[in-house]
Amino acid sequence: MKYDLNNLTLEEKIELLTGADNWRTSSSNGKLRQVFMSDGPNGLRMQNADGSTKKATAMPNLSVVAQTWDEELAYLDGETIANDCIDNGADVLLAPGVNVKRTPLNGRNFEYLSEDPYLAGVMARAYIRGVQSKGVGTSLKHYCANNREVYRFTQTSEVDERALHEIYLKPFEIATQAEPWTVMCSYNPVNGVYASENRKLLKDTLRDKFGYKGLIVSDWGAVHEPYKSLRATLDLCMPHNGDYAQNVKTALENGYISMKDIDFCVQNVLNLIETVENAEKTVNYTKEERHANALKIAEGGMVLLKNEDEILPLKDGKKYLVAGYLAKNPLLGGGGSAFVQTDYPVSPLCDLLKDAMPDSDFEFSSVPVQAWEMPNELDLQRAKYNYLIAREKDAVILYVGDPNESECYDRSSIRLHPGYERLIKEVARYNENVIVLLNVGSAVDMSEWIDDVKAVLLVGYAGEAINEAAAAILSGKTNPSGKLAETFPLCLEDTYTGDEVGDGFVEWYSDGVFVGYRHYDRYGIDVLFPFGYGLSYSKFKYDNLKIEKKGDAEYEVSYDITNVSDTDGAEVSQIYVKDIFSMVVRPEKELRAFNKSVIKAGETKRITVKLGYDAFAYYSTVYDAWHVENGPFEIWVGASSADIRLKGTVEVELPDDGQQSQI
Ligand code: GLC
Repeated sequence: MKYDLNNLTLEEKIELLTGADNWRTSSSNGKLRQVFMSDGPNGLRMQNADGSTKKATAMPNLSVVAQTWDEELAYLDGETIANDCIDNGADVLLAPGVNVKRTPLNGRNFEYLSEDPYLAGVMARAYIRGVQSKGVGTSLKHYCANNREVYRFTQTSEVDERALHEIYLKPFEIATQAEPWTVMCSYNPVNGVYASENRKLLKDTLRDKFGYKGLIVSDWGAVHEPYKSLRATLDLCMPHNGDYAQNVKTALENGYISMKDIDFCVQNVLNLIETVENAEKTVNYTKEERHANALKIAEGGMVLLKNEDEILPLKDGKKYLVAGYLAKNPLLGGGGSAFVQTDYPVSPLCDLLKDAMPDSDFEFSSVPVQAWEMPNELDLQRAKYNYLIAREKDAVILYVGDPNESECYDRSSIRLHPGYERLIKEVARYNENVIVLLNVGSAVDMSEWIDDVKAVLLVGYAGEAINEAAAAILSGKTNPSGKLAETFPLCLEDTYTGDEVGDGFVEWYSDGVFVGYRHYDRYGIDVLFPFGYGLSYSKFKYDNLKIEKKGDAEYEVSYDITNVSDTDGAEVSQIYVKDIFSMVVRPEKELRAFNKSVIKAGETKRITVKLGYDAFAYYSTVYDAWHVENGPFEIWVGASSADIRLKGTVEVELPDDGQQSQI
């Protein structure tokens, strides 16, 4: 260790435990290098002195990265953002956010990954490895159970132990395998104690159970009583807190905390400083290559949800209307600390399509309805002019979205703005071939208009390359391969929480482990588009399932996927495990592995995945540990959570002394 905490005075030690300012650690009277932290998950978000945001590559938001189901792309995403961090002097990137998407109303779903803890954890782990491979640190956040923006500073998330471990902690448990340099605690209380003061969460679980050796930092302003946070082993209070030193000194004098407590946290800060100093920062992409990476990820993360009559890809020799304000001004990402300011000139979709398909005719119509205004009668009159144009076309590409997804507040509805719903239905009256592009950050209830349109492409908040990726998919240059990482319900009322937001004091997570597809499965609720769903221009056949036992609870699952179409493509296959008989209530099935493979036209690929103890385990509140019950389990291989193609059964037989008595 280069820095010995014994060379620091008590004042210097305590000063080290809170920021020097909004973004840097203390220098302890110039003795130490300051660590510079900066947002955010979708690209570097660093503020200038005047409050403006530095320019950086606007990457696809993490919701789109998750829809790639491709760990290599998540790694590439992290690497690329690290390049911008290095260019601008950031040592630690305050990302990724892995909070589970418990409700589609959450304002920050765009910057989170999934409703499924395994997918969220695996993709975050790859992202962290990507960022840190370039010598930049990360901050895995927000630990934990921060699943809404409303009341986020005060409302307790009341969560039972199983749901906590199986759903809300699981992404952190998996992602800490990548050894993030920091973990950020959330604002909210968990089971009645602020996350920043919750020793059971920070020390007993994150550090002792998960084996986390790095630094724990507060969310900005999440520390209420500094000495209580310190006692819970929260190492670094951000941003600078002027009351911190006195509060800790008084607590030390009163015996509420010890020098051992202080030194433990000081050592973690010194370790971070040394990690930063020893890190070899390496830029490996030019600005152009960073944009190319953004495009590659966007193309891999867009999801084709509907394609009736195979209207997509677009055909040569046809006439198309490209309509909608967003076709020229797409939403690259959501608002708040995850906002990224790019200087990349996003091309209008219509121009890109003209370049991609010179043998077809594309006309742009701004259509007077703005993204978020209820069209007045004048608008609709003027719009009628556009509808008459629409009627003369072979198809209409309608670009719609929701500009209101942001940190600090939640969505009030999961439907598109009424103006957009009316626009879609009006245009569909004049042309039966409507293709909708959805520029949104989270699930949308499309029931009002989905039957009026022929195709829906979820472009998402796909960053600065959004229109290039959309044009590549629409023109057929790229075959869509993304799949949903969250369920799209038929309506908000079908979700567990509906429009419930809690009372500002406590939100009881009475859904337990039944979150996302686990909820819809348990209650037999139909959905619009299921978790793991996404169409391709190819068709894939699954067969020849083989399951080999490799240990007590270790199996190798292999199966063939054949591309039975004439178009090269990529397929995401998903492995779900079902506990046929259990002494505790369990979800019908749970995602336990997945694979994305490129499969050429006519090609058959043999896919092999491994299932270990984790794949069969639930969290036992008796043993306060993960536990597998002996007995039969089904292994399901699916193209989505609702499209199970192959099934097999295994009999898990662990040593009997580890089993409780069976009835
Ligand atoms: C914000 C966010 C957190 C962000 C931090 C710094 O309140 O909750 O995600 O990294 O403050 O901007």
